[in-house]
Amino acid sequence: MILVHREEPIAVVQLNRPEALNALSPELMKELVSALEELDRDEKIRCIVLTGSDKAFAAGADLKWMVSHTAKELLAKDPLAIWDRISNVKKPIIAAVSGFCLGGGCELAMMCDMIVASETAKFGQPEINVGIIPGAGGTQRLTHLIGKSKAMEWILTGNIYSAKEAFEAGLVGKVTPAAEYLNEAKKLALKISEKGSIAVAHAKQAILKSFELPLAQGLKEERRLCFELFDTQDQKEGMRAFLEKRKPEFKGR
Ligand code: HXC
Repeated sequence: MILVHREEPIAVVQLNRPEALNALSPELMKELVSALEELDRDEKIRCIVLTGSDKAFAAGADLKWMVSHTAKELLAKDPLAIWDRISNVKKPIIAAVSGFCLGGGCELAMMCDMIVASETAKFGQPEINVGIIPGAGGTQRLTHLIGKSKAMEWILTGNIYSAKEAFEAGLVGKVTPAAEYLNEAKKLALKISEKGSIAVAHAKQAILKSFELPLAQGLKEERRLCFELFDTQDQKEGMRAFLEKRKPEFKGR
C-alpha cells in the first residue's frame, strides 16, 4: 500500500491503494508511519515528498473500516494516535497533491510541512456529510491555516474546493499544471536538501512551535534553536563561505 522511491538525497513516498482512492485504512497508516520514520533515521535522505496518484492523494479515512465502530471502541483503541507520529518526523515532508484530497487525506496533507498541488486537486473536509467531524487535525490545523470564517465554511458545509481556492485560502503553497506537481515538489525537496540539515530541522521545529506556543514563548524557543546552531560545523562553514565568497559545503554536522 506504500511505495518508497529513493532518489537520494530525497525520497518519494507514495500512497498506493488505487481501488479505494487511497482511503487511509489503519494498515495503510501503519505502513506509512514506519516508512516515514525509517526515512527520518536515514542519513542519506534529506527531505521527503509524500504523494498519491494523479486521481487521488487520499479520499479520506477508510469509511468501510469506520462505519461499524462505536464511540467506546474508538476512544479505547484511538486508531488516530498513530497519525501523531507523523508530526514527530524531523525532516521536512512536502505533500505533492493531485486529485482528491479529502477528509483524512486533507488532514494528512496538512500534517506535512508544505503542500504543492496540481491544478486538478480537490480539497475539502466532507466529514459532516457522513455524520461526523474531522478527527485527525482538520478543525485545528485548517483553522490555523485559513482562518476561522473559512474553516467554519469548509467544515460545516463539507464543500469541495479547487486547488486555486485552496491556494488563495492559504492551505496550499504552490499550484502547478497537472503534469508538474510531483516534479515541482521534488525540485523544492532538492533545493531544501542543499541546506544544512540540522538548520533545516531546527527551522521546521521552530515554525511548528508557532502553532503551539504564545508569541513570547515562541520567540524564546526560536532564539534557543537559533543559538544552538552556533555549535554546528555547518554554521561555521556557511558564514566562512559567505566571507570567502564561495558556495558553502554543508555536512549536516
Ligand atoms: C473507503 C472509499 C473512500 C473512503 C472512496 N472510496 N473514498 N473507500 N473510504 N473515504 C472507494 C469507493 O467506495 C469506491 O470503492 C472507490 O473508492 C472509488 O470511489 P467512487 O466513489 O466510486 O469514485 P467517484 O465517483 O470518482 O467519487 C470520488 C469521491 C467519493 C468524491 C472522492 O469517493 C467520495 O465522496 N468519497 C468519500 C469522501 C469522504 O467522505 N471522505 C471523508 C471520510 S471521513 P468501490 O469498492 O465502491 O468501487 C474522514 C474522517 C477522518 O476522513 C477522521 C475520522 C475519525
